[in-house]
Amino acid sequence: MTNSSQDESGVAVARSVVDLRARIADWRAAGARIALVPTMGALHAGHISLVEEAKQRADRIVMSIFVNQMQFAPNEDLSSYPRRFEEDAEKFAAAGGDLIFAPDVGEIYPEGFATTVTVAGPASVGLEDKFRPTHFAGVATVVAKLLNQCRPDVAIFGEKDYQQLKVIMRMARDLDFETEIVGAPTLREPDGLAMSSRNLYLSPDERERAPLLHEALKRCAAALRGGVKITSVQAAALEELEAAGFSVDYIEARHAETLAPVTRLGDGLVRLLAAARLGTTRLIDNIAV
Ligand code: PAJ
Repeated sequence: MTNSSQDESGVAVARSVVDLRARIADWRAAGARIALVPTMGALHAGHISLVEEAKQRADRIVMSIFVNQMQFAPNEDLSSYPRRFEEDAEKFAAAGGDLIFAPDVGEIYPEGFATTVTVAGPASVGLEDKFRPTHFAGVATVVAKLLNQCRPDVAIFGEKDYQQLKVIMRMARDLDFETEIVGAPTLREPDGLAMSSRNLYLSPDERERAPLLHEALKRCAAALRGGVKITSVQAAALEELEAAGFSVDYIEARHAETLAPVTRLGDGLVRLLAAARLGTTRLIDNIAV
């Protein structure tokens, strides 16, 4: 027995932690492996690719849809963040998902809520954290709660948000979560632009220029592999993007695990990470070198 209601798409929807746990307990009793795919909704094909990855690793797929206010700064896009639950439910159902956990704010942050999960290490390396100083505490806190609420065998996160993925892996390891944290590759539009809910904000002209970010990263990676110095590669990419009208927050080569700065390719696996604004839209992307 479960208390979960059903959406019009036919997929089960749990609004409370009690509902969520009842449904999961039934599946566990039947011996199923459970996967969790945390999202903030406005689903696109990138999110669905995480569901596909989850299906390879578990029998039952839970997706959380919660626009987590704690990870938005006051000047960020919390109020305008796209919310389209019915479309999301249809997409998730079509992908073969089993349950949507869509709590309201009070369910996640009850009155008197007073706890923050703060990660150092990869959350404190001068990339996203420099421009969004409260962001990862908000992410780590809500993900810690979601992992506790659902207790999945595996949780899937996109490499699209590479620093976020590393922060969550660090937190899960440091706090002894039993859930295996898995990273999945970035899904891109045919022109290379990384899929993102925020791409909806781009004007037609900005949308045309947006793939340059990925192109710049690819050129950087090729130059690094060709032996060009990291500092020269970073400077050239910065100049190229600024000339195309981007306002660049960073474009940097970092150690792929610790995200510490690297001075030469031989220092271990290297990841190139970038964030840049086009008009009012902030785009992030990263690739392996
Ligand atoms: P959201 O931006 O909705 O992203 C949900 C998941 O989808 C994240 O793991 C993200 O990395 C992944 N994702 C986004 N675009 C992708 C793409 N083009 N290809 C593959 N995966 C992609 O990230 C968040 O929500 C939140 O911070 C969350 C983890 C849910 C905590 O609130």
